[in-house]
Amino acid sequence: MPASRTVEVLPTPADLFRAAAEEFVRVGKAAIARNDRFAVALAGGSTPKSLYSLLAKEHGRFAWRKTFLFFGDERHVQPDHPDSNYRMVNESLLSKISMPPRHVYRVPAENRDAHAAAAEYEEDLRKYFAMKPGDFPSFDLILLGLGPDGHTASLFPNSQALKEQARLVVANWVEKFNAYRITFTFPVLNHAAQVLFLASGADKAEIASQVLEGENSPPYPAQRVRPTDGRLLWMLDEAAADRLTC
Ligand code: 6PG
Repeated sequence: MPASRTVEVLPTPADLFRAAAEEFVRVGKAAIARNDRFAVALAGGSTPKSLYSLLAKEHGRFAWRKTFLFFGDERHVQPDHPDSNYRMVNESLLSKISMPPRHVYRVPAENRDAHAAAAEYEEDLRKYFAMKPGDFPSFDLILLGLGPDGHTASLFPNSQALKEQARLVVANWVEKFNAYRITFTFPVLNHAAQVLFLASGADKAEIASQVLEGENSPPYPAQRVRPTDGRLLWMLDEAAADRLTC
């Protein structure tokens, strides 16, 4: 079991994203007070876009110049492609705050060889965290979303990346998209000091109840995110939490 698991339910999506922004800033300030830097990996997809927009709108004065942004996963597309997580983060956040470009570690997903892109990104992590062989990076915060099939980052059910215990970043073939995704592996997620899952909307109610309260074999990928020494925090709005019993 993780060091701790907390589930917070907020009344509306607006309340959810406001609470998530406050948690982001709280964790960031504590990391900067401790280490003079905040290393955070962002989630992709549509849910966190509202969080990123709110951070840009209401936390422009946050210590972005001591923050280092990574991506927990990326689609295997150009950075200006409509599906690119980088493009989404750039439009909703990066283009609106003053953050040194060298503090943004973008996945080189334009590389036609997805495995090479993953290897290059893994090297970026190793260098940033000054890792020795066998080490794993400890992000101050990793944001994650929840897919309707229980995936998180780009760790999809029945995909090869679920088995990876040594690499930090891999190219994961996702059958249903007939495409590669580049993703952090479970060891990286589970070495984080804190993981924050965000789930919003009625379409996540069933999977959220399965992941948070269900006994599934095999477990959903999102159920396998249990930071060894870190904090696991779930934030949902009431619509996404509708089927929870607690
Ligand atoms: C991605 C994300 C992915 C996402 C879930 C939920 O690249 O798509 O990393 O894991 O968090 O698919 O997506 P929504 O927030 O769009 O529902």
